[in-house]
Amino acid sequence: MTGSLAGKVALVTGASRGIGRAIAKTLAAQGATVLLGARDAAKLGEAVGEIEAAGGRAEAIALDVADRASIDAAFAKLLEAHGRLDHLVNNAGITRDTLVLRMKPEDWEQVLDTNLGGAFYCIQAALKPMLKQRSGRIVNITSVVGLTGNAGQANYAASKAGLIGLTRSVAREVASRSITVNAVAPGFIETDMTAAMTDKAKEAMAASIPMGRVGRPEDVAGAVAFLLSDAASYVTGQVLSVDGGFHM
Ligand code: NAI
Repeated sequence: MTGSLAGKVALVTGASRGIGRAIAKTLAAQGATVLLGARDAAKLGEAVGEIEAAGGRAEAIALDVADRASIDAAFAKLLEAHGRLDHLVNNAGITRDTLVLRMKPEDWEQVLDTNLGGAFYCIQAALKPMLKQRSGRIVNITSVVGLTGNAGQANYAASKAGLIGLTRSVAREVASRSITVNAVAPGFIETDMTAAMTDKAKEAMAASIPMGRVGRPEDVAGAVAFLLSDAASYVTGQVLSVDGGFHM
């Protein structure tokens, strides 16, 4: 497939649904070979099939970002098969929402281990080929609540704020090797993660967004594709909000 990402090999974590799946579809449509990571690779059949039916190149890869052995195995497998990695999109994420005083140690640990630890260990693994190649792009999916905080989400907001510090630190470390590291901060995006909200709560949320609507996974995917494209080759250490103007 031709396109601005033709010839690139991209790994998207948490790609079975929602924002990750939309990112995978968008990158494949722009010509990248996309490796879709998920804990249960069998669940990726539909997403991979959808990309292939549209003429794109996609593969499922078993990857639990909260498990370092799984990360090591996935990177060994993808490097053996493709010999390189051009793009890493750290998208996998979870919530375990509750007020601070009720938050159990496992609520804190699971969210930090998945959202922040997972991104860190995937970055460590991805930098090995990228440093050898002297090129690479990393995009971390943070959140507006990493910028603002949110009652009931101390664990999640801390993990997402941590991702911003991680993004900027790694960006500084690898900039001289032509590797860029950026973050995308979605606002309210309609996915399974936000499906539990009532229609009334969603309407109230939409009313507080200057653009007057909640976001779609494709809105986030477009911003990620830009940061991975040649057009963004001089952009690093940035946090790009995709939230209809909610936080500015
Ligand atoms: P989602 O819950 O629909 O999808 C999350 C994906 O991550 C799923 O495919 C899930 O299986 C995967 N995942 C979870 N734990 C994993 C693990 N240990 N290893 C591998 N994969 C794992 O959520 P959504 O909405 O698509 O979110 C994607 C990212 O965007 C997350 O990082 C989330 O925090 C972030 N985000 C979402 C917003 C929203 O409004 N939906 C707003 C801001 C950020």
